[in-house]
Amino acid sequence: MSNSNWPPAIRVQHWLTVLLVVMCIGAVWSHEAFDKSNPVRAQLMQLHFLLGGSIGLLTVLRLATRGLVNGPAHSMAPVVALLAKAGHLGLYLLLVLLPVCGYVGVSGKGLPIDLLGLASIPPLPVSAETAKWVKELHEDLGNALIALLAIHVAAALFHAVVLKDRVLASMLGRVDR
Ligand code: HEM
Ligand code: HEM
Repeated sequence: MSNSNWPPAIRVQHWLTVLLVVMCIGAVWSHEAFDKSNPVRAQLMQLHFLLGGSIGLLTVLRLATRGLVNGPAHSMAPVVALLAKAGHLGLYLLLVLLPVCGYVGVSGKGLPIDLLGLASIPPLPVSAETAKWVKELHEDLGNALIALLAIHVAAALFHAVVLKDRVLASMLGRVDR
């Protein structure tokens, strides 16, 4: 059984990341529904860039916080604990790599990224060929993240519903309530 909750800072960062990732993927998926001549299509992509960049920054902050605090101790078989750790590492890696590849990918068009009309981020000096394959890599990594998240959420629900332990409760702040 878990002995304590995750520290509040990690819980806030975890659930904020969930919200931003859902909106970020929602934006890129829904842009497809609009015709190229419709400005909403480009606006949804700008939203995707903005949310994606914010997720990258939040993940760096979260990794720094994680370096300072420990999570709760769960009693589980060593092999399960190892698999969970590998899955979490994979999620962190993708949350850092995706914004970087996304930025390199869009730099190929030579256009700046608009920050809500307040400022803009200039494109990186990369060739069109480099930007093309990095954009394709970004799309593959995006799909890999979705697959890993499906496993992650299924595992969290398995703990809560089947094993009835406190793994999910520790991320919800419900241990010892
Ligand atoms: C953690 C942050 C991010 C996630 C989870 C994410 C996820 C995704 C996903 C799932 C796709 C669709 C893949 C497909 O169609 O198969 C995608 C496409 C794309 N993303 Fe991201 N992305 C992130 C950050 C960014 C950033 C920061 C940028 C640019 C600054 C960016 C630029 C793009 C572009 C240009 C596409 C291709 C859209 C198209 O042509 O259909 N992404 N992303
Ligand atoms: C965008 C979606 C999500 C992302 C990117 C994400 C990412 C992560 C990461 C990276 C960790 C590792 C924490 C660490 O060891 O530092 C984690 C832990 C956890 N996540 Fe998520 N998560 C997402 C959605 C969810 C959802 C929807 C649930 C619940 C249904 C959930 C439940 C948990 C639980 C219970 C833990 C703690 C596991 C443990 O204590 O070993 N996550 N998450």
